[in-house]
Amino acid sequence: MIDLHCHLLPGIDDGAPDIDVSLVMARQFVADGVSTVACTPHILPGLYHNTGPDIRQRVAALQNRLEEESIPLRLVCGADAHVCPDFVGGLRSGRILSLADSRYVLVEPPHHVAPQRLEQFFFDIAVAGYVPILTHPERLTWISSHYDKIIRLSAAGTWNQITSGSLTGAFGRNAQYWAERMLDEGQVHILATDAHDPIRRMPDLSRGRDAAARRVGEQEAQHLVLTRPRGVLENELPSNLPAPQGASAHNPASVSSPAAANDDSGFVGRLRRLFN
Ligand SMILES: [Fe+2]
Repeated sequence: MIDLHCHLLPGIDDGAPDIDVSLVMARQFVADGVSTVACTPHILPGLYHNTGPDIRQRVAALQNRLEEESIPLRLVCGADAHVCPDFVGGLRSGRILSLADSRYVLVEPPHHVAPQRLEQFFFDIAVAGYVPILTHPERLTWISSHYDKIIRLSAAGTWNQITSGSLTGAFGRNAQYWAERMLDEGQVHILATDAHDPIRRMPDLSRGRDAAARRVGEQEAQHLVLTRPRGVLENELPSNLPAPQGASAHNPASVSSPAAANDDSGFVGRLRRLFN
């Protein structure tokens, strides 16, 4: 498996506080069946002033240490980049990192307030040639009142990443409901740990994968943790990767897809056509 979202780098954000914790987490990843991890520290103006060059240096240093410790885990660079002004400028200048320097970039919106002009924000990223990956929409407190927007973004080419712990109940019933619903509706592209520590928010991708497999089948579960993440690392076009299959493909009697996903008019159509 490949994990595209975690806070493994020591002492850079609210993830691993020091190298000892990073090493414990790295061993947990390996034991869990993960071969490659994207180190994605927060980039959040006003709170976490991490920058691309610094993240690259720290990833190289941690990779060296893993090799010294004989921990077979490959690291790639990335960032958990929060919605901020001049996001595209940050990508172009290298201040914000995409995943393994690919066209795919994690984008984290505010947890408690739906940003104004959310769709325009994602449109601007897509126009610049990137595929935005919305991080853990299932955990946003405003998802229930703005789910139509998330569906429109997804229909237009934004990918959705949900957290493995959400599927196992680690983030509460609300997050679990939305994670399962999005999975059932074929709205989820990537499953990732968003691991921060070895105990409370630990590397738990296999448990999430198993929970996903029970809802959408083994093949789609594999796509969530391997096929699409590998495609991201290889900078594949999204159109060359399997589209998410919901529960109806696995179990045709279970659910129906939202009508909005088929809307090809207006804003959504413009954005979708960028990827075709
Ligand atoms: Fe994160």
